[in-house]
Amino acid sequence: MDIKNVLVIGAGQMGLGIAQVFMTSNYHVSLYDMSEEQIKKGIAFIDKQLNRQVEKAAMTKVEKDEVMNRLYPISSLSNAAQVDLVVEAVVEKMEVKQSLFKELDQLMPPHTILATNTSSLPITEIAAATSRPQQVIGMHFMNPVPVMKLVEIIRGLATSDEVYKVIHETSERLNKVPVEVEDFPGFVSNRILMPMVNEAIYTLYEGVARKEDIDAVMKLGMRHPMGPLTLADFIGLDTCLFIMETLHKGFGDDKYRPCPLLRKYVKAGWLGKKVGRGFFTYDK
Ligand code: NAI
Repeated sequence: MDIKNVLVIGAGQMGLGIAQVFMTSNYHVSLYDMSEEQIKKGIAFIDKQLNRQVEKAAMTKVEKDEVMNRLYPISSLSNAAQVDLVVEAVVEKMEVKQSLFKELDQLMPPHTILATNTSSLPITEIAAATSRPQQVIGMHFMNPVPVMKLVEIIRGLATSDEVYKVIHETSERLNKVPVEVEDFPGFVSNRILMPMVNEAIYTLYEGVARKEDIDAVMKLGMRHPMGPLTLADFIGLDTCLFIMETLHKGFGDDKYRPCPLLRKYVKAGWLGKKVGRGFFTYDK
């Protein structure tokens, strides 16, 4: 099966990066978000990212225009034409993803593969909302998508070998390195990363150290490129909380209990870099 036309759903930080990577690798990309405002901002964001490539002489102006011409913003899912692959990158909530996949199952042609960029939710459960679980798969990109090499590919219980192979090859065509992972909460990446981030938030909550110092310990002492609290802000504190809740529910072990301070920040709307304020403050 040859993938040519891709539909990316969710024009947030991940969806935009995913759209950009597919566009620059010669795919035609339709982009949908429930917020039209978000789509408008998203197109301007991708344009700005590509202009930077032109400034760095990594791409010519003509090439950049060709890449932008492969982007088709759509205002309704029923306007998506001839889609071979959907990559969903909306909010990390099972109810939202299941209802979206149910709708996609009805709207998309029978051959279309439905992939989700979920960071932690069970693929098998998302697939169960459709009549084509053999064509549902996890395609987990890392943030920022144009920079990070890894794609975790997660098979649901019913995902076919053929669909796995197509997604593996597609990831390689995007110049990424695919890694196969079984369908367990948090997969490999967030099962290891997110408890570390949550523990960093506990050290702040318990007054063990100042936020700058917690980050300094992990950067200077463990050679992490970014401290865990800054990383949480970059990921989005709402996403961090959803992932911890998935791990806590999925494994039933209190070692995954989300830190109350994380819950408090999310309730306050301090969601991290994307809103300008989390553990630290950012220019919007
Ligand atoms: P975000 O909050 O930046 O963007 C989410 C977008 O989805 C928003 O623009 C929102 O308007 C849209 N949306 C929400 N519900 C929708 C619906 N029903 N239909 C259409 N659009 C809808 O979130 P972000 O960070 O881009 O995360 C998206 C997904 O990617 C989540 O599942 C997250 O777990 C996953 N992910 C996030 C990473 C990160 O570092 N932030 C890394 C890897 C995966």
